[in-house]
Amino acid sequence: MSTNAALAVGLGLGAVLLTLDPGAFHLEWEFPWLRGAAERIALCIAAGATVLALGWLYRLLFCPLELLRTPDEVGYIAEDGRTKAQAANEARSRRRVGELPPVYPNGWYRVLDSHMLARGEVKNVYILGQQLAVFRGHDGIAYVLDAYCPHLGANLAVGGRVLGNCIECPFHGWQYRGTDGKCEKIPYAEKVPEFAQVRRWPSCEVNRQVLIWFHCDGLEPQWSIPEQEEITNGQWVYRGRTEHFINAHIQEIPENGADIPHLDHLHTPGIPSGVDLRYTNSKTWEFVRHDWKVEWEPEPEPNSHCSQMRVNHSLTLFGCRLPLLDLRVVARQVGPGVVFLRFNHSFLGQGIMMHCVTPVEPLLQCVTHTMFYQSNIPAVVPKFILKGESIQFERDVMIWNNKKYIAKPLLVKEDSAVRRHRRWYNQFYSENSPRLKYQKDTLDF
Ligand code: FES
Ligand SMILES: [Fe+2]
Repeated sequence: MSTNAALAVGLGLGAVLLTLDPGAFHLEWEFPWLRGAAERIALCIAAGATVLALGWLYRLLFCPLELLRTPDEVGYIAEDGRTKAQAANEARSRRRVGELPPVYPNGWYRVLDSHMLARGEVKNVYILGQQLAVFRGHDGIAYVLDAYCPHLGANLAVGGRVLGNCIECPFHGWQYRGTDGKCEKIPYAEKVPEFAQVRRWPSCEVNRQVLIWFHCDGLEPQWSIPEQEEITNGQWVYRGRTEHFINAHIQEIPENGADIPHLDHLHTPGIPSGVDLRYTNSKTWEFVRHDWKVEWEPEPEPNSHCSQMRVNHSLTLFGCRLPLLDLRVVARQVGPGVVFLRFNHSFLGQGIMMHCVTPVEPLLQCVTHTMFYQSNIPAVVPKFILKGESIQFERDVMIWNNKKYIAKPLLVKEDSAVRRHRRWYNQFYSENSPRLKYQKDTLDF
């Protein structure tokens, strides 16, 4: 039973027992202890309910918001008695994907948040269609290696042990260095062959996240992820994160930022209208509207791998704008997979939301939003912003999960930023960038 349900039941029972008068049923003559017992039970339930209510309030006010959606949970319409998983599978198998760009652009991608990887811990991560062993050495540094041991193929991250800055294979005990992937020791062999090594992925740890660099030609990083000082120095603190899995090509997600007209259509209905696009335009919540003024521009050299979306958001209730709730956001995209959204509000303070898109497979993206906010602003404020963002985002998810990629879209003048965005994003593909292969004989991708 959820906390909310337990609370409701507890309060309900408490209320019933508190009003229960055994005298009305002449029960106290036969069972004189009953009144005392009923009172004691009522008191216990009321106390339990109060504890639950206080716990709920504490969580609301002080704990981070963690909203982790499963791949089928959002963005599909389950009708005619089908489960969400069935609806998702059907939509996936029926969809036409279109003429896709390469599937893994060159750039930095979030692997996990720093707190998820303790010293001496190893995690098996599946991203970019690869099995990776991500581990934190006893030197405190996070390393990323290919997970499969070249000896006989065991997965280093499943039962492997961290020794110093090496990972030891669980099968025969070969040890690989995190720094370069070289095999340092074979416990039963006299000599370690020169070529015994696994692939090391360039990685960095910044803004409390571990990221890896992907380049189809194996080139070393060509730019870095900018450190956000307020996160590093603790001025802004962690207030939560959301996680979504999206069935779409990666480019669809950042392109949304340059698709300015969609904001007025998809994101204008108020947050209470929810995420199901069949009902977001219902009359019930018509009085709550969001207004968006947005510009999108690429940055000049030497930051041509960055672009900026400047957003002025205002809220109207019954047609009246509430200027006190105006919010300015600058969303700076750094490469294909990381965006920093900086919030600035006159009295609700400042903070940053990191939006990271990491391809899991060609048509499956893991998207996280991680919120850091001024520590002196009550957690409920950034949590509300994060929740609001997540509702708006889930509307996009329903579009992405069901759409086709159109290589030559039919655009009008007002859509021009989409074209410019595609030109800008094109820089992250190179000749050898992997493409989705379609196998005609099996009809499988
Ligand atoms: S498979 Fe890894 S040491 Fe043998
Ligand atoms: Fe959107």
